[in-house]
Amino acid sequence: MSDTIAINDKISIERVGDVALIRIDNPPVNATGQAVRQGLQDAITQINAEGTAKAVAIYAAGRTFVAGADIREFGKPFVPPALPDVFNIIEASAIPVISVLHGTALGGGLELGLSTHARIGIEGLRVGLPEILLGLLPGAGGTQRMPRLTGVPFALEMILSGRQVPAKEALEAGIIDRLESGDPREVALKAAQDVIAGTLKTRRTDQIAVVPDQAALDQTAAHLKKTQSHLYSPHKCVEAVAAAVLPMAEGLKIERAAFMDCMNTPQRAGLIHAFFGERAVSNIPEAKGPARDITHVGVIGGGTMGSGIATACLLAGLRVTLVEVAQDGLDRGIATITGNLDGAVKRGKLKADKRDSTLAMLTTSLDMGALADVDLVIEAVFEDMGVKKDIFGKLDAICKPGAILASNTSYLDINEIAAVTSRPQDVIGLHFFSPAHVMRLLEIVVADKTAPDVVASGFALAKKLGKVGVRAGVCDGFIGNRILAHYSKTASYLVLDGATPQQVDSALEGFGFAMGPHKVGDLAGLDIGWMTRKRKAATRDPKERYAGAVADRICEEGWFGRKTGKGYYVYEGKDITPNLAVDRFIAEEREKAGITPRPFTDQEIVDRYMTAMISEAARVVEDGTARRPLDVDMVFLFGYGFPRHRGGPLHYADTIGAAALVARIKDYAKEDATYWQVPALLEKMAANGTSFADMNKEA
Ligand code: CAA
Repeated sequence: MSDTIAINDKISIERVGDVALIRIDNPPVNATGQAVRQGLQDAITQINAEGTAKAVAIYAAGRTFVAGADIREFGKPFVPPALPDVFNIIEASAIPVISVLHGTALGGGLELGLSTHARIGIEGLRVGLPEILLGLLPGAGGTQRMPRLTGVPFALEMILSGRQVPAKEALEAGIIDRLESGDPREVALKAAQDVIAGTLKTRRTDQIAVVPDQAALDQTAAHLKKTQSHLYSPHKCVEAVAAAVLPMAEGLKIERAAFMDCMNTPQRAGLIHAFFGERAVSNIPEAKGPARDITHVGVIGGGTMGSGIATACLLAGLRVTLVEVAQDGLDRGIATITGNLDGAVKRGKLKADKRDSTLAMLTTSLDMGALADVDLVIEAVFEDMGVKKDIFGKLDAICKPGAILASNTSYLDINEIAAVTSRPQDVIGLHFFSPAHVMRLLEIVVADKTAPDVVASGFALAKKLGKVGVRAGVCDGFIGNRILAHYSKTASYLVLDGATPQQVDSALEGFGFAMGPHKVGDLAGLDIGWMTRKRKAATRDPKERYAGAVADRICEEGWFGRKTGKGYYVYEGKDITPNLAVDRFIAEEREKAGITPRPFTDQEIVDRYMTAMISEAARVVEDGTARRPLDVDMVFLFGYGFPRHRGGPLHYADTIGAAALVARIKDYAKEDATYWQVPALLEKMAANGTSFADMNKEA
């Protein structure tokens, strides 16, 4: 006999004999919002007050156990009860309470499990404490209970990486007590009956002593100081785990204080913007319509880009036909793809026993006729409009009706390419970022005549490839490269005016970029920018200050960066040192231009660089190239190594404010009124007192 009562609309109690089953039902991911917290507290209190049940089992409905605290509540006024208090009540329950975890038990969800007296995992479970990825720390007992179960080193690694631990490892580490298969309710009922029968042991986590490990704490703290000094929450995590040697109540107090400190940082706000932005960016009507079936992809061009795109498609289980003009190009492409797949096996992205069957999904040809049956072609040859037009003309004749014809161009006009075909509705830009099988950004460039189901197919492809699809309009450089082309000039101006390339790099690395712009230039190859400057020389605005003087001098020496051993830096083995010849070029170029160098602080470097980036980003939003400010943010987070904890250029812009930005640009414009112009959108925002976040909400 069983009977069920609802505690509220998220929590219910079902009685089956001596067992009380608490069910959490809060779709989509059973996050512990206020009603779940309140319901759990009330359910445990009620069951204990009645005293009739001999065992309690908590499980969740739907595709997953609890995915953590409800992130949407962060930053809003708090409504009790607090999660740690609810978990303390569960842990203190006189009647044994167990939990059954399925899907993912993350953050507050796993912490709920840790507060119960035994945990059963269901096959396929993954557990994790991903709070660090949101600029937080496990603030509902995770830093105190995890070390008690697994020891300090494992707990530290889990908390600091935020990684999801597979079920088997969780069992071995002592996080879960049993691993079973089946329906969560059935497993919960059986496990609770085992508790009553004495065949499943229960214990309170707060009564397990932590094995002290000061050496692990010290080592970790020292490592973080060296590698993550610009981040806030990792250091707080270590502080909280260190407190686990104290009695539970004291440790929990220290954890709570550290959690609240993290909650109040802009880093937390930036990381949560990134979390929701990643989901919102492709949550647009155009992405949701009917899409065309894509199972077989043609890739034209076996260079780094084409091979990377082919690899990404193969890894997603798609058939790929790679086409090149000459056998040596094809051989190089096959070698690159094979190497990429081997790398994917090494990184754990592809199972070793799937490597050969994945490679077998690749066919190659020197004849474009081989593309007659593909569902999608992605052209990835070099950036020459004439060559691209020729290819698209041929594709028009070869490809089956309804095939999608895409270009991976980084800046060329998709409308012009589409116009050479008799089916411009099937033509789209799919702009991947190198290495294409690793970088998660895919700009989906919608031309004037691109059909809605072709746009939706672009988004479906992004999802299939595990990428973040961002809608972009047609213009030179689309969203990312157009903004990059503008702000990268600032780095050159700063050097001409008195900073060193090394100072610019280190200032921006201090801001959070993994590499400063000169190091990135050396890595990407300085010849790329050199070619672009030559291509644009004839159309350059004569009023605009030339930014390429120093880079041109470096390239004229045949120094293209890392690949030639020299660029802004000299590369010898693992050693990277400044290229002293560049200092001479800088001095000579300053003299030629009549510049008296002046000192820059790191802050001024960051301010100028970021203001330039924000200015062009504002124009990109204003003219509709990007749908919303958050679209620009996601492009930079997933394609340009923008520091995630800053949320993206326009989230960061809000932390400065439109009025302050306008004032800054006007100030810089006193030196150079051509480059520093106030975007109309920023001017309007400053006048109305609005933010980019407001625009995201309205869109
Ligand atoms: N709070 C609120 N909403 C959440 C959420 C959360 N913790 N986790 C996911 N969602 C929402 C998503 O925004 C998405 O909403 P839309 O459909 O409106 O876009 C929806 O749930 C489904 O999420 P996904 O699209 O990501 O679904 P998925 O199946 O690909 O992944 C998941 C599911 C693995 C649980 C993933 O959503 C995830 O990693 N969530 C975040 C988990 C997390 O960081 N938890 C820690 C929270 S902080 C905490 O718990 C603090 C503490 O110590 C007390």
